[in-house]
Amino acid sequence: MNTNFNLQLEELKNRFEESLESYLEQTHFEPEILDQSVKYSLRLGGKRLRPVLMYASAQILGGKVQDVANFSLALEMIHTYSLIHDDLPAMDNDDYRRGQPSNHKKFGEGQAILAGDALLNEAFSICIAECKKGRTYLRAAELLCENAGGKGMVGGQAADLYYQGKPSAGKTEADFIVLNKTAKMIVSAIVVPAYIYDADEQIISLLTQFGVNLGFLFQITDDILDVDGKFEQLGKSIGKDEAENKLSFVRLYGLEKSRALADAYRDNCIDILKQLPYECDFLEQLVRRVRSRRS
Ligand code: IPE
Ligand code: IPE
Ligand code: MG
Ligand code: MG
Ligand code: MG
Repeated sequence: MNTNFNLQLEELKNRFEESLESYLEQTHFEPEILDQSVKYSLRLGGKRLRPVLMYASAQILGGKVQDVANFSLALEMIHTYSLIHDDLPAMDNDDYRRGQPSNHKKFGEGQAILAGDALLNEAFSICIAECKKGRTYLRAAELLCENAGGKGMVGGQAADLYYQGKPSAGKTEADFIVLNKTAKMIVSAIVVPAYIYDADEQIISLLTQFGVNLGFLFQITDDILDVDGKFEQLGKSIGKDEAENKLSFVRLYGLEKSRALADAYRDNCIDILKQLPYECDFLEQLVRRVRSRRS
């Protein structure tokens, strides 16, 4: 175990938890049921991978966690809303999320849809407030919103549903799904800080490639864990992709080839980090953790 890495990871995660908690204490939605359902899902935790990535990206670029605190809240809110909607019976029909009953199991489907809507709009309000800080923040907000919507995560989710149970769908469709539903949100985490600090185009391009490769690595490991993971570690049901006829990487390539592909994406990530003129040790360890994760 790499103790130093684990401590750093814990510290960044804790800083995000504190920032989220202080935001939630100052924010109230009405009626009470909406406040409860929004805060229920946000407080369930999860890995907080996207905020941690955004913090780490700000740090390698020579900036501070504080500079991206608000954008990381917005990104995690959008991510959490995507999970609430993803679990609905009309989508993946999952009863558990982050080790607890999914939002609609606790509050009902209608309230779960609305909790997601409230989270998305709250995230947009945060982004609009950030835009007032100047041109570079405006560009960062544009990226975050575009990658979350119909040209990003929402498009990926629509394709994920559309290609469910369609045997003619193959690599092109699976790559589209993963790029959009997962990788683009991870690109936002990595590239928003680069936009804020007005980094060179070449740096932005490398960071974008890094985010795309990490997104594929992340989703392929998610697909593998859906087969060989444990509920107690993952906090969500296993075997759902097969049950729902998803066009997952495991369906397309089988377990062994999916593992080899995950290794290849991990290696791509590390190669890209080596091309950056920064000290990227933490990010390299994080990439390795994404590959070896069981939760
Ligand atoms: C789950 O994301 C959705 C995917 C993109 C596979 P995470 O595995 O990051 O979920 P949490 O935030 O840790 O619960
Ligand atoms: C979901 O992918 C990606 C999202 C954008 C929410 P999955 O459907 O595979 O995520 P899990 O396995 O339910 O977390
Ligand atoms: Mg899904
Ligand atoms: Mg799902
Ligand atoms: Mg999954």
